[in-house]
Amino acid sequence: MKHSLLFAFVFFLTACSQGPESPRGFSLPEGDLERGEQVFVQYDCLSCHRLQGYDAVVTERELDTPIILGGTVTKVKTYAELLTSVINPSHRLASGYQDEQIMDDAGQSLMRNYNDIMTVSELIDLVAFLESYYELNPYAQSHYHMYYP
Ligand code: HEC
Repeated sequence: MKHSLLFAFVFFLTACSQGPESPRGFSLPEGDLERGEQVFVQYDCLSCHRLQGYDAVVTERELDTPIILGGTVTKVKTYAELLTSVINPSHRLASGYQDEQIMDDAGQSLMRNYNDIMTVSELIDLVAFLESYYELNPYAQSHYHMYYP
């Protein structure tokens, strides 16, 4: 009985990781940290956030309680989650806040939507910059020039 349960679980995991919705095969080119920092400043992320370990003078605050980015305390644990939280913020909301601090009445994230204004290159650089402030699980980048015997 125990074994069949275990088998079912492993099967479930394997099935999930290969389904059409799985992040398998997901790969982005390497981003540029310096350009990413410029994007971070240019798009006013700090008007709603504080980035742990990053000192900046913030002139305008849009949220009473800034949402903390970086470090290990946040819910973001992988590169894919970090990227998702920028392009699809309502997918999974930050934890450790009261509802009204992070979402509107419809349950949507208060985070600004950048999808129509940020270029893909900016996004890649931004996430590379942010990533350096997180302790994320390693993201296995595809190495196109390698082959496996
Ligand atoms: C108008 C306010 C606002 C702005 C501007 C804003 N955000 Fe957010 N952001 C939020 C709120 C509120 C949350 C928490 C709800 C959620 O998880 O979407 C959040 C969540 C996040 C998270 C996930 C945090 C976690 O622990 O789950 C990341 C990463 C993030 N924002 C990055 C950015 C970046 C990068 C920018 C600038 C390009 C930005 N945000 C601009 C309001 C904002």
